[in-house]
Amino acid sequence: MQTHYWNLQTDTDGAALREAAALIKKGEAVAFPTETVYGLGADGLNGAAVRKIFEAKGRPSDNPLILHIAAKKDILKLTSGLTKQAEILIDKFWPGPLTVIVAKSSIVPDEVSAGLDTVAVRMPSHPVAAEMIRLAGTPIAAPSANISGKPSPTDAETVLADMQGRIAGIVDGGVCEVGVESTIVDTTGEVPVILRPGGITREQLEAVLGNVELDPALAGVEAAKPKAPGMKYRHYAPKASMYVVEGEALKKLPLLAKEAAKFAPVAVICGGEVAESMQRTQNLHILNWGSGKTDLAVKLYRMLRRCDKLGVELIFSEGVTEDGIGLAVMNRMRKAAGRQVLTSDEIEALLKNSSQLKSFVLK
Ligand code: TXA
Ligand code: MG
Repeated sequence: MQTHYWNLQTDTDGAALREAAALIKKGEAVAFPTETVYGLGADGLNGAAVRKIFEAKGRPSDNPLILHIAAKKDILKLTSGLTKQAEILIDKFWPGPLTVIVAKSSIVPDEVSAGLDTVAVRMPSHPVAAEMIRLAGTPIAAPSANISGKPSPTDAETVLADMQGRIAGIVDGGVCEVGVESTIVDTTGEVPVILRPGGITREQLEAVLGNVELDPALAGVEAAKPKAPGMKYRHYAPKASMYVVEGEALKKLPLLAKEAAKFAPVAVICGGEVAESMQRTQNLHILNWGSGKTDLAVKLYRMLRRCDKLGVELIFSEGVTEDGIGLAVMNRMRKAAGRQVLTSDEIEALLKNSSQLKSFVLK
């Protein structure tokens, strides 16, 4: 399939979005930017169109999709009724990076809800996304525009790397501002539950709702089955084995990275301060995200993909505290690392024994 490419920087008369929206209306799948990550959109009320999304991504059919709308009131026809909490959240955080799980109405196709009696709805704030939905005149079902299992794309180039030839088109609107996906809140129960941390922080939710719970599966509790079906998959995993280094252990990271790079190519994902204390060599790739968590959120997915391209054996990633956007970022980083962490003592032991370090790097 020929994948049409529209660059909004060179589109002066608005034809790009009209053409892209027309393809959606016709039942095709088209990628477009949102404030969080790029989405792969199709007419959310057309089951056959929605199936094209699953096909292009190689997505398991038991993983439901988010319906994207352009006006708050448009949720009313998608739901059999909103709880008070849902109303508060919509009022406070839409448009923006928040998805609410609500009881679904009968017009939502089974392909979208994957057989559940609830549906996920979000009103994005990105002007391109909003205009696409408005022009298409229908809720747009859109997962992240990556091949299933890979990190979500935050720029058009990455979407093309995964989707060229598999989808009808892509609208290039530059780099996404948030960089991690929307926060998903289940509003159907007594107490609202965060199923996936994201662009709207837990603190922001608590400020308007009071009590908010975290899905226990987010804490890595083995027995807990995540309530968002997509959260059970091993997402975001780079090819190399990856370790999170945080707190006290960070002080030893520069030396560990330097020593490890003697045996194989290594990448370090870190902020400016750690980056400055390290020396780049042919075998030691330093991916510097900058100064704060917000920068890390914007860059993490691109850095994980970059590690694959660099062909490193091992990745060390600096962890940040889990307040604000840190909760979402660390959720993704820990998943990418398969929950592997290196403590200060473990690093110490590796540094003391060169043959042990070698087998750690090469295993
Ligand atoms: O920021 C975002 O949310 C991006 C942009 C494109 O809007 N979209 C996105 O979609 O991340 P996706 O499909 O990659 O992730 C949606 C998640 C999945 O984990 C899915 O299982 C969960 O939402 N989900 C969808 N419907 C649900 C439902 N009814 N109940 C529980 N979880 C649901
Ligand atoms: Mg996704």
